[in-house]
Amino acid sequence: MNAEKVNTQAGKIILAPMEGVVDATMRHLITKLGGVDLCVTEFIRITGYVLPEKEFLKSAPELARQGKTPAGIPVVVQLLGSEPELLAMNAISAAKMGAPAIDLNFGCPSKTVNKHRGGAVLLDEPALIHQIVKAVREAVPDNIPVTAKMRLGNLDKSLAVDNAVAIQEAGANSLAVHARTKVEGYKPPAHWEWIGRIKESVDLHVVANGEVWNCEDYQRCKELSGCDDVMIGRGLIARPELGLMIKSYQLGQSGDGAAWPQVVLLLLEYFSFVEQKLPPKYVHGRIKQWLHMMRPQREEAEKLFFSVKTINDLSDLRACLEREL
Ligand SMILES: Cc1cc2nc3c(=O)[nH]c(=O)nc-3n(C[C@H](O)[C@H](O)[C@H](O)COP(=O)(O)O)c2cc1C
Repeated sequence: MNAEKVNTQAGKIILAPMEGVVDATMRHLITKLGGVDLCVTEFIRITGYVLPEKEFLKSAPELARQGKTPAGIPVVVQLLGSEPELLAMNAISAAKMGAPAIDLNFGCPSKTVNKHRGGAVLLDEPALIHQIVKAVREAVPDNIPVTAKMRLGNLDKSLAVDNAVAIQEAGANSLAVHARTKVEGYKPPAHWEWIGRIKESVDLHVVANGEVWNCEDYQRCKELSGCDDVMIGRGLIARPELGLMIKSYQLGQSGDGAAWPQVVLLLLEYFSFVEQKLPPKYVHGRIKQWLHMMRPQREEAEKLFFSVKTINDLSDLRACLEREL
């Protein structure tokens, strides 16, 4: 694969990495629906040693199938850590296993991660960010893109451009920017105009991310950020067909969402996958988690969530979903 080609196609929609939510099952179901051009794994935390293959496969089972979802959509492997050489060695392993690209996480707000000098706190140290990206870029074969994902800063936005420049000068192929600082958490708004400011300051492929829930948000995000490519997280979980809606909206078509029974069928399919993967006591939680994340975008999900909230028996839960069809 040619790094240039991977990163410069216009108008890509990228399914954001979401730890505990966007696992291989979710990537499979969403990319099967269509409209998504690229996925990124949940972060794989790198501390102290080179992970064995089986650890990479836990987060990225797609590595056993040429780094793609069954629908053929590439899945980038995301690493999180603060030790340049160690990250580089792990990146080499992931690349050898078939990762189509390596992404580096500079945005995780988790207290545990930040305490160990990982994720968003690194945004206080552009020089270290530069060292990390450089070490990984130099270690990984040229034909495998190395990308980064950052927030606008840790406590404030004062180093946003410095960090982007550090990432560019270290040789990254692309940079996704979640348009908020760590302290801004997930609170709206996302500062898309700041992505635009970053984009104007670097000569690097920039992907816009944050708070895109519908076609209008997508359009406005593109206008304010100046980016062609947009990464979407919660919006695609709330409306798994959002990628398709945006693609038809771009063609001047209506961009209508899926009918509720189609969404319920997807939830039922998810149910079956989760049942195969997790012990029974964890299954209802995952189904309710997805339904809960659909609530802001769908009245039907809001209603169904309240009627299944206290149901833990899996047959009862399935029956409730089936009644929606
Ligand atoms: C539950 C959850 C887990 C996340 N896990 C990751 C992660 O593993 N790696 C990462 O770079 N970002 C992670 N993020 C951040 C998202 O990728 C994205 O930047 C953020 O949700 C903003 O985009 P959105 O408004 O489209 O959701 C996570 C976000 C959420 C809500």
